[in-house]
Amino acid sequence: MSILVTGGAGYIGSHTAVELLDTGENIIILDNFSNSSPEVLDKIKQITKKDFKFYKVDLLDENALDKVFEENNIDEVIHFAGLKAVGESVEKPIEYYNNNITGTLNLLKVMKKYNCKKIVFSSSATVYGNPKTLPIKEDFPLSTTNPYGATKLMIEQILQDVNVADKDFRVAILRYFNPIGAHKSGLIGEVPNGIPNNIMPYIVRVAVGKYNELTVFGNDYDTEDGTGVRDYIHVVDLAKGHLSALKKIRENSGVQIYNLGTGRGYSVLELVKTFEKVNNVKVNYKIGDRRPGDIASCFADVNKAKKEMNWVATKGLEEMCKDSWNFILKNK
Ligand code: NAD
Ligand code: UFG
Repeated sequence: MSILVTGGAGYIGSHTAVELLDTGENIIILDNFSNSSPEVLDKIKQITKKDFKFYKVDLLDENALDKVFEENNIDEVIHFAGLKAVGESVEKPIEYYNNNITGTLNLLKVMKKYNCKKIVFSSSATVYGNPKTLPIKEDFPLSTTNPYGATKLMIEQILQDVNVADKDFRVAILRYFNPIGAHKSGLIGEVPNGIPNNIMPYIVRVAVGKYNELTVFGNDYDTEDGTGVRDYIHVVDLAKGHLSALKKIRENSGVQIYNLGTGRGYSVLELVKTFEKVNNVKVNYKIGDRRPGDIASCFADVNKAKKEMNWVATKGLEEMCKDSWNFILKNK
């Protein structure tokens, strides 16, 4: 019996693969390397001293996907594979809908054919749109403002519909807040393509001198210091959340939906100051305009995950900042 990890060479997938292997799970990684590289697979092996099967397969290639299921006894899937840049999704909606939606539909078709009935899906806090109150609970209204977010919402709906049609089909939908940090070894971490959109990859590149300064997107929000507040979560905590979710759906039928965050928000300036302090390095920044589509504050109510899965994030902002820095220093 194996767990198929789609997108397992990516940022969150690779960290989850390490946790799965460390607990003795048997995994198969599938990735098309559209946003990752084969070296990551060697790093996962180096960290865990364990081996696993890998398939370079695109989810859009249904025949190749079928072969993966034909050749293996896959009874669970953790589905990370997808395109994830909000801005790019506005420029390339067809590509995003095709990759994320068609890719997931192909996966579900093949899972059905091979009687594979458990899936953990990577959703996002973006599905809450601009929440009226904070912290955000799982039963808050859902909405999206860009094609990326729309794909997450649509896939959530598709998974729920498949469960309605087949009660044996078990689903965990995990809504991630803002993952940052890297594995302690410094061997795996976030490697964005081109100029980073997200804040931590940008901060570390300013700190190493690749970019002159960070632009803080607005300081006139209704927050303590005027800059945007987010719920940053260490990627290793997030990875462990997938093991908890897997346990949950092994033991329970139905569709389980959980926020994965720390429950605490930090502003952009708090993040920058913490990064500077714990790493003893300067991060130059300037205040710029708001980024279109950004909201003032976003942080999770994490009680459901704690109560129902016994999962909590344990790593604080300082550790996240240290580990992000360690990764960039080892991979300049
Ligand atoms: P990532 O880009 O590092 O990893 C995704 C992986 O999927 C990459 O290795 C990529 O090559 C692969 N992939 C993409 N399309 C594929 C396809 N058609 N076939 C096979 N492989 C394909 O991204 P990540 O940060 O690790 O995110 C993982 C998942 O979590 C994504 O679904 C993303 O939308 C979601 N998510 C991420 C964040 C975040 O801030 N990183 C927040 C919320 C949700
Ligand atoms: N920010 C800056 N300067 C930058 C980049 C970001 O000031 O150069 C600010 C943003 O305005 C925001 C905060 O830093 O206040 C975090 O921004 P990110 O781009 O790192 O993250 P977002 O919260 O905008 O979005 C992320 C993922 C989305 C996901 C969402 C919720 O990129 O895919 O979290 O999970 F949907």
